[in-house]
Amino acid sequence: MSSTLRLAVIGGDGIGPEVVATALDVLESAATATGCQYEKTSFPFSAAHFLETGHILDDADVAELRKFDAILLGAVGGLPNDPRLAGGVIEKGILLKLRFELDQYINLRPVSLYPGIETPLANKTSADINFVCVRENTEDLYCGIGGFVRKGTPHEVSNQTMVATRFGAERCIRYAFELAKTRERKHLTLVHKTNVLTFAGDTWYRAFQEVAEEYPEVTTDYHHVDACCMFMVSRPEVYDVIVVPNMFGDIITDLGAAIAGGMGIASSGNLNPDGAAPSMFEPVHGSAPDIAGKNLANPIATIDSLGLLMRETGRIQGDTAAVTCGEQIGVAVKKVTPQFAGKSLDRSGFGTDAIGKMVIDSL
Ligand code: NAI
Ligand code: MG
Repeated sequence: MSSTLRLAVIGGDGIGPEVVATALDVLESAATATGCQYEKTSFPFSAAHFLETGHILDDADVAELRKFDAILLGAVGGLPNDPRLAGGVIEKGILLKLRFELDQYINLRPVSLYPGIETPLANKTSADINFVCVRENTEDLYCGIGGFVRKGTPHEVSNQTMVATRFGAERCIRYAFELAKTRERKHLTLVHKTNVLTFAGDTWYRAFQEVAEEYPEVTTDYHHVDACCMFMVSRPEVYDVIVVPNMFGDIITDLGAAIAGGMGIASSGNLNPDGAAPSMFEPVHGSAPDIAGKNLANPIATIDSLGLLMRETGRIQGDTAAVTCGEQIGVAVKKVTPQFAGKSLDRSGFGTDAIGKMVIDSL
């Protein structure tokens, strides 16, 4: 089946609009080649837009975005330490607001070493670094529960509460088992810190054990988060699918990005896998104000995120043309990465538009 996929596009700040424009050029070619139908609408939400108009993203904007099948986001955020953006106004006002309001409860981050890309790990190859992190995206320390007492005095107290619900843990764990089931190795590792976080960790551990009984074909393991950091460096081949709560997931996925070649290649999806609201796909990197407007940004992470968008949205909608289009984009990226051999991914000397053209040529 094929339908017209409605895509909301938020270019954002800095290099965001550049890498998004390049990725959309790739989509245009891939969609034409695969007979995939889509239409796109742009939205201005960004730090720059906020500084210009005072508007961040309100409930009416969220309602408008709900009408789309998926969202592609470049990156949002201004110069570091800009006092006008203090207090995480953009992160909370755009990124976290969308993740929470659209109930994007899975943050999916593939960690895969592509051909030609250098890993900082000695003697490790693409065969060793090939796993997916499933990070819970709506709970944990990110709920914003906490506060100050006696702020600004020598007796200042602050706390920030880790929240784990059985519902939130279980739906994330279930998604991870479903994903593991489709993979060749069918192996799922829970990462937590159950020896210290004896309440939140216990809720996760019991949910994991119970859901595991429904998936006898998936082998399971458990690692403490500190051990996971060590294994990701020393023995990344032990991982196939990792399921992890929000805060630990934030940290280990950056480590994952580093072992797979860095920010220039790290893609991600904030998923509402049930399709009740649109999912949002974005490169892991930020707006890189230091190189904005110079045609220096590597668009690969955004192109790959867009491939993931097409595959995921196509799967939810039952749109096989979109799935094929997304697969073609993924294959084309892997054909291009050998050209980065011996070069830095972020400072390759290829322009943003030239890299886009390389992907289009290999489609
Ligand atoms: P960053 O990822 O924007 O940049 C870190 C370094 O990596 C810089 O040297 C940059 O030039 C380089 N870099 C990043 N992406 C690149 C690409 N595609 N090609 C080549 N080089 C690339 O992180 P930073 O500097 O900490 O943050 C800059 C702004 O981005 C801040 O306002 C931050 O809040 C925001 N940010 C937004 C995110 C999002 O929208 N999801 C995620 C991370 C940061
Ligand atoms: Mg992060």
